[in-house]
Amino acid sequence: MTFQDKTVVVTGAGRGIGKAIALAFARQGANLAINALHQETASAAAGEIQAIGAQAQWAALDVSDEQAVTQFADQVFEKFGAVHILVNNAGITRDNLFLRMKTEQWDEALAVNLRGAFLFTRIFARRMIRQKTGGRIINMASVAGEAGNPGQANYSAAKAGVIAMTKSCAREFGHYGITVNAVAPGLIETDMIRSMEQAAVDYVRKKIPAGRFGTPEEVADAVLFLASDSASYINGAVLRVNGGLLV
Ligand SMILES: NC(=O)c1ccc[n+]([C@@H]2O[C@H](COP(=O)([O-])OP(=O)(O)OC[C@H]3O[C@@H](n4cnc5c(N)ncnc54)[C@H](O)[C@@H]3O)[C@@H](O)[C@H]2O)c1
Repeated sequence: MTFQDKTVVVTGAGRGIGKAIALAFARQGANLAINALHQETASAAAGEIQAIGAQAQWAALDVSDEQAVTQFADQVFEKFGAVHILVNNAGITRDNLFLRMKTEQWDEALAVNLRGAFLFTRIFARRMIRQKTGGRIINMASVAGEAGNPGQANYSAAKAGVIAMTKSCAREFGHYGITVNAVAPGLIETDMIRSMEQAAVDYVRKKIPAGRFGTPEEVADAVLFLASDSASYINGAVLRVNGGLLV
């Protein structure tokens, strides 16, 4: 797989899965435009990308802030001229049992996971269509978006929304040569998982046929495949990367 001369946007690439995706694209020759919530992580990730020899543009922003998203897109097009691949990866959890869930927890999970993916998809799909280059959009869903999860009704609803948005966009953008797919990870070793209670972690691990959690690099491999020429006829799919958790 080579992504030479391709420009890739990855949201939430300051750490974890997003950073692994950005670095994997950089190793295959792509130019990267990344963002994260905090300046330190976004700039450090950009430094790692540049150390590989790839170009990297970065910003600290909130993906649910429409004005910030527009400004970021303008800067990306000014620097690179075109964008070929968008990975909507930024996501957060705001866990609580449903009956105790605060309205703010519900709203925050929906804002980052779903509204963020909507804002980025709309602005970059419009520009991909104008470029007439086709493109690839890959959205980060989750096992929770397919199966639900106690304590994660907000996150699960957002990720189910991401899956439904993926399928709708696949239908709308297909004839522009843009494919839209989702990757649905199971449990992946990142800071997001490290904040889970140990009892919950042990409980879920027992249910995974692979007997282990996945790595960010294993998710990145799936994303690069969907972004590659090898996946040109895959559209509207949800690729599970979960070690068999949902089998
Ligand atoms: N780790 C898992 O087990 C797992 C499982 C299924 C799905 N996912 C999904 O994969 C994606 C990445 O997860 P992760 O485990 O790497 O998370 P993480 O918490 O390690 O990293 C999240 C990244 O997103 C950024 N981010 C958070 N809120 C943001 C915002 N409002 N605007 C811009 N950037 C923001 C953070 O700065 C960070 O760089 C998320 O969409 C998550 O829901 C993760």
